Amino acid sequence: MASIFLRESVRAYRERDPAARSSLEILLCYPGLHAIVFHRLAHALWAHGARLPGRMVAHLSRWLTGIEIHPGATIGRRLVIDHGMGVVIGETAEIGDDVYLYHQVTLGGTSSARAKRHPTLGNGVIVGAGAKILGAISVGDGARIGANAVVLKPVAAGTTVVGIPARSIDRPPTCPDFDAYGTPIEAALDPLLREMETLRAELTELEARVGRLSAGQRCSSQRSEAGAPAAE
Ligand SMILES: CC(C)(COP(=O)(O)OP(=O)(O)OC[C@H]1O[C@@H](n2cnc3c(N)ncnc32)[C@H](O)[C@@H]1OP(=O)(O)O)[C@@H](O)C(=O)NCCC(=O)NCCS
Repeated sequence: MASIFLRESVRAYRERDPAARSSLEILLCYPGLHAIVFHRLAHALWAHGARLPGRMVAHLSRWLTGIEIHPGATIGRRLVIDHGMGVVIGETAEIGDDVYLYHQVTLGGTSSARAKRHPTLGNGVIVGAGAKILGAISVGDGARIGANAVVLKPVAAGTTVVGIPARSIDRPPTCPDFDAYGTPIEAALDPLLREMETLRAELTELEARVGRLSAGQRCSSQRSEAGAPAAE
């Protein structure tokens, strides 16, 4: 289980960060990955009631990585924290799968109530550098939060918001460079891979038919050499 987590996390960095050159480099030099590994331990301790040890692991992680994740936060699979320094993720924050956070992002609270007070991010959300998402609001799947935005209201799935307070820019994404940096590569490759599978199956079928035809031809020429009438 731990090795699957580590393998898919490293793969997520390789696929989504163009600066990443090898898995070893990611394992050794990516504070975002280190913070997530520490968080898994801190969260497990927290969930089993070992609150102080959980906090101590999170504190050590912050000391080493510059990324502060409360041990109570719930984090999905393949989270990428790029650069990382200054990221703060609050106690009741929830993060879906394949989320991408840049440095200085805050998933913070707006009240001191001991209740859900931090945001919930859906799958595939991208949060630009310095953005703050505040309160128990939800950010829908695939939404994009611009650099330095301050988000105080829910964000619908697939939308892009920018500014202070954040507002939707209300049109589909236009910046391919940013998508290449922040979008899971599977999303772009899936249709191509499916097309390749179909072509491969057709090629196999064609090869089999050619094989059958040439075997038939060989039989009929052997028969005609032996004086038998060739099959129609
Ligand atoms: C929000 C974002 C994803 C939008 O990208 P996009 O869909 O290509 O949008 P555009 O660049 O075409 O900008 C659309 C409009 O929003 C404005 N805008 C874009 N990003 C903005 C931001 N962060 N803050 C304020 N306004 C922003 C643009 O000026 C433009 O306004 P206009 O229509 O009046 O000219 C992108 O600008 C962004 O902020 N990405 C974060 C990247 C990041 O943090 N990188 C860190 C690397 S270390």
